[in-house]
Amino acid sequence: MKRNTVHGMDCLDGMVEMEAGLVDVIVTSPPYNIGKAYSTYDDTLTRAEYISWMGDVAGASLHVLSDRGSFFLNIGGTPKDPWIPIDVAMEFRKKGYILQNMIHWIKSIAIPQSDMGSYASNTCDIAVGHYKPVNSRRFHHDCHEFIFHFTKKGDVLLDKLAIGVPYQDKSNIGRWKQAKEDRRDRGNTWFIPYETIQEKRPHPAVFPVGLPTLCIRDHGLDRCSLVLDPFMGIGSTAIACIRLGIDYIGFEIDSSYRAIAEERIRDEKTLIQSKKQQLRLFEDE
Ligand SMILES: C[S@@+](CC[C@H](N)C(=O)[O-])C[C@H]1O[C@@H](n2cnc3c(N)ncnc32)[C@H](O)[C@@H]1O
Repeated sequence: MKRNTVHGMDCLDGMVEMEAGLVDVIVTSPPYNIGKAYSTYDDTLTRAEYISWMGDVAGASLHVLSDRGSFFLNIGGTPKDPWIPIDVAMEFRKKGYILQNMIHWIKSIAIPQSDMGSYASNTCDIAVGHYKPVNSRRFHHDCHEFIFHFTKKGDVLLDKLAIGVPYQDKSNIGRWKQAKEDRRDRGNTWFIPYETIQEKRPHPAVFPVGLPTLCIRDHGLDRCSLVLDPFMGIGSTAIACIRLGIDYIGFEIDSSYRAIAEERIRDEKTLIQSKKQQLRLFEDE
């Protein structure tokens, strides 16, 4: 299977064709079966059909994922149907996957100044992240999705400090035996806001490039040479891989989304090339 390509095929057929155990990281977001207006894919299966399909995806992925690999599955529900991600996770469990980490993708968060601790020099409450609140008196807007980190045996070592964060209380550094530098585990709540898009959105359900980037770096760049996204959409995972210098394989059945992915990939490569050229000119001066 050709690398660094978004293949125009059904991911189940694609994964069968791939060599066994080749992939180090799978990071993906499948359709959630919530009636999203995709350009060709019909997001309105019955629940039973959908869950069974997700089970097939889990089964096929076991063939391509290496024994030391990570599968980061991003999936959310709706305020009315919060069980969707849990039902899908249960299917992965039935196929033999171990849920090694349950990560919460936080899209928006509000923090009152009174809860900011030593950061309280900030003069106001803050609310960061974009969303258009749900029009309902029963439900809160869903500002969160899951990133289930599945592995085959539950014993994959991560490069947690690669995506670590500074200590808030610096006095812990040195006082706590394990705190040797000003960097600690980010924890399982990952704040990743959507990128602001002013013009018409080309795809109804993308994740920010920051999401696959964090997943791949968490698994460990030194242990990752190939990433797979079975539901590549408009190429966010491919962009993350290009920025990180890692090979990818993607599947996407919709040719219009594939065309946008290819355009984004071309633009990203051009940008990186021109940055490298500028750097060389700067070093030559
Ligand atoms: C939630 S979107 C993924 C978006 C992607 N993460 C991004 O940021 O662009 C799911 C995608 O899966 C595609 N899709 C649906 N069924 C598929 C299948 N059987 N094989 C491959 N792609 C499929 C849809 O066309 C849609 O673009």
